[in-house]
Amino acid sequence: MAPTGGGGGKPLRIQAFSDRTSIRDQLREVHENLKSELPLVTRVAVALYDDQTDTLKTFVHSTDADTAPFSHYEAKLAQMPSLHDLARGGCARIIDDLGSWTAASDPLRRLIERAFRSTYTVPFYDQGRFFGFLFFDAKEPGYFSAASIRHLSVYANLLSLLIMNEISRASALRSAILVARKMSHSHNEETGAHLDRMARYAQLIARTIASSSESNEIDDEFVEFVFLYAPLHDVGKIAVPDRILLKPGRLSIDEFEIMKTHVTAGMEIVESIARSFRITAGQHVDLLRNIVRYHHETMDGGGYPSGCRGPQIPLEARIVAVADVFDALTSERCYKQAWTNDAAFQLLRERAGRSFDPLCVDALIGNAEQLQGIQARFRSNNGFHEGYTDEL
Ligand code: C2E
Ligand code: SIN
Ligand code: SIN
Ligand code: FE
Ligand code: FE
Repeated sequence: MAPTGGGGGKPLRIQAFSDRTSIRDQLREVHENLKSELPLVTRVAVALYDDQTDTLKTFVHSTDADTAPFSHYEAKLAQMPSLHDLARGGCARIIDDLGSWTAASDPLRRLIERAFRSTYTVPFYDQGRFFGFLFFDAKEPGYFSAASIRHLSVYANLLSLLIMNEISRASALRSAILVARKMSHSHNEETGAHLDRMARYAQLIARTIASSSESNEIDDEFVEFVFLYAPLHDVGKIAVPDRILLKPGRLSIDEFEIMKTHVTAGMEIVESIARSFRITAGQHVDLLRNIVRYHHETMDGGGYPSGCRGPQIPLEARIVAVADVFDALTSERCYKQAWTNDAAFQLLRERAGRSFDPLCVDALIGNAEQLQGIQARFRSNNGFHEGYTDEL
């Protein structure tokens, strides 16, 4: 599709529907195009809605270099009344003078601090379900006139399609893999609440690292895809026989050798499913590959299957390793009782540096209250086969 932009008749070079570029890069390109018509729109950002927790989270942004980015943020939609109404109402909103908003909510205050004075905010929907917001911001008061809105609405439409397409492809891939996992065994040891918690722990660690690091190497897009793909780390357990997987006691050495093959089996499953989804390249699939392949590697090289060490282990896998072990320890398994959070923290601390990335361990332990919130929200329902929520 090659839609044309507004008045100038210049084609929009929008690299939609490609997974070779990150969503951030695609957004940047769209923003550059947009600025040739509306040069004072110095920030374009996307926030996604999580309906499981009623939160809105920053996802990608393109912000001119002279302005501090506003990212790594999440908040309950219910606590942002005007955005809440916007999501409900389905119409776009223009604010002409942010400076006069004395009772602004937290996100608006952050925009004001960054000297933005006007904003055009567009909610977008996937088949009627609220999906997120697009924000177009300018430092000039009253920048968004009727004429500029005509241009912007074209961009807003394209961007929302681009974002939803990327996310729904990732969700479809994830669902296909999870269905394979569910069909293969009668057990429910790692479905339902376990996967929800795992994903939330990984998201929490990733977001904490993202907001503390100076580099913009880890952005909200990375956080989102870690969240989306973390639950797939053990998909290769499909290939492990139930007599081992569900053994009530300790595994023998031979049994554990078979158990370890869940990593390479998982890599094969991801490859074959990614192939049938025709996504064999792109960062998102690489991120998934890395999670599956490296989640049992340890910092000191004593892990499996390859025994690589430290920075050779991709960050996404170091994050998932901590989330996985924390959830394994604090849950009941066929082979063990549930540990308390404090006992699990102690083990993670003891092994930080040797087994686990200390940064990830600190990020988890430093958020003890939020962990409890996740545990309360996604409690295991013993004996009941819950479905993993496939929606965002
Ligand atoms: P899992 O249940 O998801 O556990 C993931 C990881 O959490 C384990 O990786 C291990 O690093 C940690 N973990 C879980 N429980 C404990 C524990 O009680 N103590 C300690 N120190 N660490 C724990 P690991 O060891 O590579 O095991 C991979 C998978 O193999 C486990 O996934 C589980 O499915 C299976 N497994 C491991 N040990 C046993 C066992 O004794 N009996 C049975 N039936 N399965 C086991
Ligand atoms: C508000 O809740 O008052 C405004 C929220 C926002 O637009 O960011
Ligand atoms: C990034 O941080 O942009 C890479 C994450 C991804 O695209 O999956
Ligand atoms: Fe595993
Ligand atoms: Fe696991």
